[in-house]
This record gives sequence, structure tokens and C-alpha cells, in this order.
Amino acid sequence: MNVLLLGAGAREHALAWKISQSSILDALYIAPGNAGTRQHGKNVNISPTDFDAVKEFVIDKKIDVVVVGPEEPLVRGIHDYFIADEILSKVPVIGPTKEAAQLEGSKSFAKAFMGRHNIPTAKYNVFNKDTIENGCSFLESMKPPYVLKADGLAAGKGVLIIDSLAEAKRELIEILSDDKFGSAGSKVVIEEFLDGIELSVFVICDGDSYKMLPEAKDYKRIGEGDTGLNTGGMGAVSPVPFAKGTFYDKVINQVVVPTIKGLKKDGISYKGFLFFGLIKVKDDPYVIEYNCRLGDPESEVVIPRLKSDILDLFEGVGTNTLSERDIQFFDKSAATVMMVSGGYPKKYQKGKQIYGLNTIADSIVFHAGTSADGPSIKTEGGRVLAVTSYGRNIEKALQKSYENIKKISFDNAFYRNDIGHDVL
Ligand code: AMP
Ligand code: GLY
Repeated sequence: MNVLLLGAGAREHALAWKISQSSILDALYIAPGNAGTRQHGKNVNISPTDFDAVKEFVIDKKIDVVVVGPEEPLVRGIHDYFIADEILSKVPVIGPTKEAAQLEGSKSFAKAFMGRHNIPTAKYNVFNKDTIENGCSFLESMKPPYVLKADGLAAGKGVLIIDSLAEAKRELIEILSDDKFGSAGSKVVIEEFLDGIELSVFVICDGDSYKMLPEAKDYKRIGEGDTGLNTGGMGAVSPVPFAKGTFYDKVINQVVVPTIKGLKKDGISYKGFLFFGLIKVKDDPYVIEYNCRLGDPESEVVIPRLKSDILDLFEGVGTNTLSERDIQFFDKSAATVMMVSGGYPKKYQKGKQIYGLNTIADSIVFHAGTSADGPSIKTEGGRVLAVTSYGRNIEKALQKSYENIKKISFDNAFYRNDIGHDVL
């Protein structure tokens, strides 16, 4: 198979690493990729949202499947673009259509979907420019902290959790009338705050059936002890020790199955990865968010735990035969620790030389934001590298990642020393 993978982060490096191990792979291209993905295929300088350029490349290189890493091309309708094109319609896209991607692309769509299909989630209401006053009254009727969510994609910045009522009202007004988040904030979901522990659950779907992937837990805050600003994710572990027994049964029966059935009932054929951002409150799961893709850094632990040939699964998605495919996982645990640029998630510098990469033997270093400058590799983003290790248990896996991360360096590098602290 000839494969085109879209994206440029550590999630895509993990996908490229896994795809390159497939016995049915002929050629792998990554657009645009990073300095890590080029170890497993050929990077091509195409933006994942430039659909015409993607089309030309797919035809030219006789691509058999397109795997979409990030949400933006999906929410913008890359799958629909393929379906609508005479030649491209024969090429499977791993990633949902624009309508299905609304599960991530519109918080109000996702909340209405969950309401319709009885899927547990926080109580909420939606407000727009014309209903700001009602929004303020709704806030008054709620208990702090107040949770405000811009409806659309806001580069991970669209969720605000605020202690003061006055500030919550001010933010609501800024989002709705001052366009703080641009068109992503034309609607705001205000919802009840749920107090619990989060986990990420993933499935792969072919439109008819689905398969569970290993679950993971990510660590979103920049600071140790889960403090400070939200980031894209500072590390992850899999499996999640508390994702078992009756709680896990509830995840399947109250969240996963009703979601898959709900999509069918709504006439939405979902092909690709679906990510459930869950919170466990007492012993019950609630959906915080859906994502129409794999998570990052969760991919850097979930994909290494997948034993089966990933292209066989993608072929199953493309031909609606996923139910006939075998999916197996490694029993061992995986952990990843993210090395970031000093200053991230605020301002940071790029272009720092990275040292020590070729000294790492028993961990896998997935590149997040890197670029190649001849033989040397430089930082190119806030999140730079994800150091993944296997272990008999999470503790052993983390130990190995921490041993190895010390051998890598770049100017002003930072990582959290307490990934996994709450599940060990
Ligand atoms: P999201 O962008 O939807 O993933 O939200 C970002 C983060 O905000 C989540 O990972 C949670 O930690 C937190 N969050 C979102 N909604 C709620 C809620 N209703 N209750 C508590 N925390 C929430
Ligand atoms: N790690 C959370 C996400 O990928 O959205």
C-alpha cells in the first residue's frame, strides 16, 4: 500500500513509526512531517489543509489510503472533498467527514448529540450574542467554578474555568461581543463543573463496527502537581489503572456503545479514530469532550501498545470490514514524557540545537516540534520531543523515560518530573 499521512506532530511520528512496520506497506509519505517522521518515510512539503495540493499528490503517487492526524483538515472537510471527487472517492480517508467531525468542531453540536442519545455529560446551556443576558443569569444560577467553552476550534484555548462570577460574566461578554476567539466564539457553552479524574479512551470505526484501543491518561498542565497553564499535554501513561471493572463496563455501555449507535441513528457514517475525553466522578464516567482524531501525547503510548498491523486495520476501515480484523495489544505498559521549550505554553524560542538523540537505545523518541538542518536537529515548536518507554508496569516505563530524557538536551529545555504521579 502507498500511504499518505497528514500532520507534523509526535502523534504523526508515532503513526509513521507504526505504519512503517506494516508488512503491506510499499511507500509512506508524511505531509509535512518533522525531523522524526523522515526516519520512517518521505516528508513532503504540503499543508494538510491545502486539499488541492493533497489531491495532486495522491493521484501522482498512486496513494491507496490517506491517514489524517490532526482535527483541522477533518473539521474543514477533507473527507468530504475526497468523496465528492470522481478519482479521489476511491481512496479511503482515515478520519471522519465534516459533519461527523463536528463532534469536536462544535461543542454545542457535541452536547446536543449527547443529550439526544442519553450519554452522560455535564449539564449545560448554549448562548450567543443575542442571549448574553440569559447567559449571565444562567451563570448566577450555577455554583463556581464556572466552565465556559467557545463553541468552535480555538487551538486548545477555548475552555475557561473561572472561580469568580464577575470574571465569568466578563469573559462571556468578551467572547460573545468582542470576538475574543473569533468565529469559534460565536456561541458559548456554559456547563456544570465536574470534579473527578480524567482519562482518554479511543476507538477506531469503519462506519459499521468499531474496535477499542488501549486507554491513556495525559497530563495537561505545565507544572508539577497538575498546576499552572494548560498545554497540549506534558506526558501520558497507558494503561490507566482505574479503567477497569464496573467503571470500565460503564465506559463501554454508557458512553462508547451509545455514541456508536447514536452516530448510526443520526445517519452519520464515522470512519476513523474517535477520542472520548472522559472524567470519572465517583464511579461514573462523563464525557468532557469528543475529538475526531487520536490524542497527543496519548498516541505516543497508545500506538506503541498496539501489536496488530495498523495498515490491516486501516484497510478494514476503508472497506467496512473492520469487524473481520484482529486487533491485539501488548500487555506491557507504556509511558511518555514530553520535553518542551522553556517558556511554553507562553512565548518560547525555536531553532535550538538538540543534543543526545542518538544516545537513546531503550526508549523511543517521538518528535513533536523539530526540524532538520542538514544532519543536525533543531527545536521547531513548544512541545519538542516525547520520550516513550515500555515497562512491566507504568512505574518501570516512567523510570526508563526519565533515565533517557536526561541524556537529551537543548537550550532551555523543560519537562515535568511527576508524570503518572496520581496513578502510581
Ligand atoms: P477541553 O478543551 O474540552 O478538553 O477542556 C480542557 C480541559 O478543561 C479538560 O481537559 C478538563 O480538564 C477541563 N474541563 C472541561 N470541561 C470541564 C467540566 N465540565 N468540568 C471540569 N473540568 C472541565
Ligand atoms: N491530549 C489531548 C488532546 O490531544 O486533545
